Amino acid sequence: MSFVEEVFETQFAPHLSLGDWSGRTETFRTALSLLEAEKREKTSIVETGTCRQPIEADFWTNGASTLIFDKYLEYHDGSCYSIDIDSQLQAQVRSQLSEKSTLICEDSILGLRELTASLERIDLLYLDSMDLCWIAPETSAVHHLKELAVSLALLRSGSLVLIDDSPRSEEWLPPWAANWSQPIWEIIPPEARLKWLSETVAGEALSRISSQQTTPDIVALREVLDRSTAALSSGDLSTSAELTEQLKETFLRCIPGTTTHPDYKPNARCPGKGLYACELLETLGEKIAHDYQVLYRIT
Ligand SMILES: C[S@@+](CC[C@H](N)C(=O)[O-])C[C@H]1O[C@@H](n2cnc3c(N)ncnc32)[C@H](O)[C@@H]1O
Repeated sequence: MSFVEEVFETQFAPHLSLGDWSGRTETFRTALSLLEAEKREKTSIVETGTCRQPIEADFWTNGASTLIFDKYLEYHDGSCYSIDIDSQLQAQVRSQLSEKSTLICEDSILGLRELTASLERIDLLYLDSMDLCWIAPETSAVHHLKELAVSLALLRSGSLVLIDDSPRSEEWLPPWAANWSQPIWEIIPPEARLKWLSETVAGEALSRISSQQTTPDIVALREVLDRSTAALSSGDLSTSAELTEQLKETFLRCIPGTTTHPDYKPNARCPGKGLYACELLETLGEKIAHDYQVLYRIT
């Protein structure tokens, strides 16, 4: 038996998916199987972004990474360093972890730099810190590229790098990012779609984007959102159907990685947190698996 068969498949895999969306299951399974196949005496795991909700019902949204790695190291041996800037969050998780895991409360780039002075190597580097805004992923993607860059000194041939929130294609967008997706779209009555799109989808996304952002897609989205909000507040819904379509179309155009984005090329570019880090990893190793996360092995 192995950790993957005995623990991962029974305790974690059943909670990592939601309906048809199998999320992170295959990439975690592959990474852990590869680690096991190496038969190391001590495995060194480093992650950015500590497990947020250590309860099974929430594994599919965030991934439960710290718990999975901790259990792996209880089964085999080694150490996990998990870096996060949120001390309250780490305090909630600490009691559920063994002494194999060390929580470091710091900005991930600083924390990783410090680890380069004390660690010899990283067998699995898991990058999942700064949250992603799906329609403006650059800030988070640059942060993850920096995390990879400062970790390079600890990566060796055979080291694995796993990056979260980097879906392979539109089908792999999670339900909360693709919340305009067909099943939800069909549940909402046509007359309620404009309000839902304006407030919940486009409005919520735009509220997280700096007003300095003036790319044509974002400007167009703001403009349609303003017209939609004005129509909704005046009660004049004569153009509601047309505005709904425009709002949906402009919103989808802003999400890199969806097939409606003009720059989208299937599998050519990894959107999300791995947007830039994957370009560097393409030159350093080979892509091993790709679902909602992307996994590389350094060659
Ligand atoms: C998506 S959550 C991590 C989820 C976790 N890996 C899991 O599987 O449940 C992202 C985490 O990154 C942390 N974070 C955000 N910016 C950060 C930064 N600059 N340095 C370190 N951690 C950061 C947040 O506090 C948050 O807890």
